Amino acid sequence: MSILTKSDEIKFSKGLEGVIAAISSISFIDGEKGILVYRGYSIESLAKHSNYEEVVYLLIHGELPNKTQLGNMKEKMKNYRKIDHMINVLKSFPKDAHPMDVLRSVVSLLGIYCPDKFDFSKEIKLQKVLRVVAKLPVIVAAYDRIRNGKEPIAPDPDMDHAENFLYMLTGEKPNKEDAKIMDLILVLHADHGMNASTFSSMVTISTLSDIYSSITSGIGTLKGPLHGGANERVLKMLNEIGSVEKTKDWLDEAMEERKKIMGFGHRVYKAYDPRAKILKKYAKELTERNGNTTFFEIGEKIEKYMIDRVGDKGIQPNVDFYSGIVLNGLNIPTDLFTPIFAISRSSGWGAHVLEYLEANRLFRPRAIYNGPLNLDYVKIEGREGE
Ligand code: CMC
Repeated sequence: MSILTKSDEIKFSKGLEGVIAAISSISFIDGEKGILVYRGYSIESLAKHSNYEEVVYLLIHGELPNKTQLGNMKEKMKNYRKIDHMINVLKSFPKDAHPMDVLRSVVSLLGIYCPDKFDFSKEIKLQKVLRVVAKLPVIVAAYDRIRNGKEPIAPDPDMDHAENFLYMLTGEKPNKEDAKIMDLILVLHADHGMNASTFSSMVTISTLSDIYSSITSGIGTLKGPLHGGANERVLKMLNEIGSVEKTKDWLDEAMEERKKIMGFGHRVYKAYDPRAKILKKYAKELTERNGNTTFFEIGEKIEKYMIDRVGDKGIQPNVDFYSGIVLNGLNIPTDLFTPIFAISRSSGWGAHVLEYLEANRLFRPRAIYNGPLNLDYVKIEGREGE
């Protein structure tokens, strides 16, 4: 039985498709034209001219920083990189934990250890966002080393965010090209309108919870294969396919079984995701530079197959398709792909929750009840079965 009023029927949208849940000036997506804009700047121009720290400032403060503003923010972020008391916690985790689970758990713990945990002022909330953004790469790199039986590498204050992350993973200063590509990955993933993880961060903050809880919610939501977890699955698929020759048969079978092809489709984009377009170029260059273009070639074949077959339904490559190939080209372990997405998106989550708090209202949708009503309570002795 369903208790459905006429207005409920009109309002119900499965998966909240098309529902407008907030007003925001942080990022804009035109899904029909394949356009993405952060605070008025096209993703193409930011990818070409900007860098991650500048984008963090832009997303949070609404405008590009001048030299002093950027310098001050970078200095703060460098000071916030320390995770001293988390190192022992990371060492206590099982070595086979998924780094995304580790990240979610440690961000939650950061909230307990934050020196200003009971200060909910605007200024401190902003500081907390920057603390998390600064610490995420340190946590991911430290756990990766610990699970491989190595000591974590201390952050290098002379290095920027992306370069320092690669350095902390390997212990070697990365070459300029690799550091630039990692920075680009971070720029491209930093924000994306009302995506699922941003929404869940906002739902959490809308109860007037705290920044750490909010970002923990975001990480937990990003993890799923329909969202950020897709990049890891793309690599799994490429490995499973194994060669260009086997691609068509693999796809025929997968489509026959109505499987979702990872790295394709999007709730908002019905055109080619502009981030995937940018990353495709780097995927080609990087695989050529590494002297092994197999994944890129399989990727191109999958892209052609999917666009021929379901492109008219708006199923096109999304950011996760080519980012997997790029990150693999940088020799990043596959299970760090989604944590890297989180490292970047933390600034978007932070910007959205800070913006939402300016005019907060509790998120509290309803569900249409379709269970029974008016049942008579039967005592346990009178129920069927033993
Ligand atoms: N492969 C094959 N068919 C697909 C795919 C896909 N990747 N995506 C959508 N479809 C089909 C789906 O089977 C359905 O077909 P039909 O109308 O015949 O039943 C139709 O397209 C609509 O699909 P939907 O699942 O209702 O669309 P949605 O808006 O609910 O889902 C999505 C969007 C991203 C969850 C989905 O496209 C998907 O599961 N893609 C694969 C996972 C993925 O790559 N996720 C990353 C998203 S982008 C990065 C991010 O924001 O995290």
